[in-house]
Amino acid sequence: MSTQSPTQTTGTRDRVLIFDTTLRDGEQCPGATMTFDEKLAVAELLDTMGVDIIEAGFPIASIGDFEAVSEIARRTKRATIAGLARAITADIARAGEAVRHAQRGRIHTFVSTSPIHLAHQMRKTQDEVLDIILKTVAQARDLVEDVEWSAMDATRTPIDYLCRCVEAAIKAGATTINLPDTVGYATPAEYREMFRSVRERVPNADRAIFSVHCHNDLGLAIANSLAGIEGGARQVECTINGIGERAGNAALEEIVMAIRTRADVMPYETGIESQMLTRASKLVSHATNFPVQFNKAIVGRNAFAHESGIHQDGMLKNSETYEIMTPASVGLTKTSLVMGKHSGRAAFRSKLDDLGLHLSDNQFQDAFERFKALADRKKHVYDEDIEALVDENLATAQDRIRLVSLSVIAGTRGPQRATLRIQDEAGSRIEEADGNGPVDAVFNAIRALVPHEAQLDLYDVHAVTGGTDAQAEVTVRLRDADRSITARGADPDTLVASAKAYLSALNKFSAQAVRLHAQHAAAE
Ligand code: KIV
Ligand code: ZN
Repeated sequence: MSTQSPTQTTGTRDRVLIFDTTLRDGEQCPGATMTFDEKLAVAELLDTMGVDIIEAGFPIASIGDFEAVSEIARRTKRATIAGLARAITADIARAGEAVRHAQRGRIHTFVSTSPIHLAHQMRKTQDEVLDIILKTVAQARDLVEDVEWSAMDATRTPIDYLCRCVEAAIKAGATTINLPDTVGYATPAEYREMFRSVRERVPNADRAIFSVHCHNDLGLAIANSLAGIEGGARQVECTINGIGERAGNAALEEIVMAIRTRADVMPYETGIESQMLTRASKLVSHATNFPVQFNKAIVGRNAFAHESGIHQDGMLKNSETYEIMTPASVGLTKTSLVMGKHSGRAAFRSKLDDLGLHLSDNQFQDAFERFKALADRKKHVYDEDIEALVDENLATAQDRIRLVSLSVIAGTRGPQRATLRIQDEAGSRIEEADGNGPVDAVFNAIRALVPHEAQLDLYDVHAVTGGTDAQAEVTVRLRDADRSITARGADPDTLVASAKAYLSALNKFSAQAVRLHAQHAAAE
């Protein structure tokens, strides 16, 4: 069956548009908050790698979101910039204002359509919702040419009613129709049939591009997205590393590489430069402080690692025995140069370039000094060490509270005791604290020096590389009444890394508070 529509064809293969929502659905998941600068950096990379549409945020949600969407809209050269809006007049006006300066701006408005959402969340009848769709899509279309309408919880919506909603949205001016599997409930066959059916039954369906948007609650987000494309969708909504609400969204890198690697059975193409996928994954992981699981498809640390003897033997004879795509095709380069204490500035700069890490002169100087200090303590400095070091370097540049020194008494005879000195606007201060274990003692010392309400939600340690002299990378997540912030710290000493991670989370809390305060003051 041909699922081709005149609006969606490019060349011999159908072009599937990539709509990245890392900065909206991705950032929405607990603990994945990004700073303004991090959002700009992510958007710039997405644009460079060929993403067609970047959903840059939810402008009405906060002044911070509005400003990030506006700035991304101003700076982006190629991609369309979308701002999300509920089916509410004020939301749509705000989204329109945020994307106003984009070369190509889109308003993405959504409303729930399933009986369970209508009854319990919206408390509206089906006819009332139809009326809302007509009015809000028309309002958006008055502001921009490019309007996307989403039927939230489409996969639990009766097909007859879904068709009426889609018809109304297109009639009111929607140019893209998104049918999300909001709760990750659909199976691939159901999702494919939903698209086929809606496209066949809705009389004006040929006037819009259809879009998939899948959540991964049952681990089916990629299978469902591909099935939706088979059903006629030509836009995929996805996020880098699959971050997003609950179990996350469909991962951009998985969709792109599935389409590319199985071109023999999928007659589609995307505009993504796949060699940039590893970089994008690392950037988003660093910005959100969400580690990528080791066995994650495409970008996980083990995705191209061959451990068993039989596999290694096959790989040595011909890499195609066990590799369906090359590491280079996703931008994974082999470590060509291990750095050490004799490596100079030029080698360090060239390594940063290879890793896709671009630093300002000051940042470079700082990173180089940290690298030298690390190389004095560690014989071989690997790529992962340098990434951890630069990551920390960027995070600490504007820190309010800095770690000056730490010493810890640990061992079999407790209690363990930490002596910690910090520097902040009140000067240099020291505190001693006991704990049930050395980490507890360190964190108790920090709590005594910087009293705060936030609770520790997550404490996680992993070795950045192999070897007993490896750097420890510690992840800490703190949560207060309405925010959850994750931060990382790295050091060859696990306890120093723990203190750095905890202080970094506190710094992020206060940086966010200062920014919000400044934004409120500016808005008054
Ligand atoms: O999952 C969902 O339904 C969404 C909509 C806002 C598109 O994210
Ligand atoms: Zn979603």
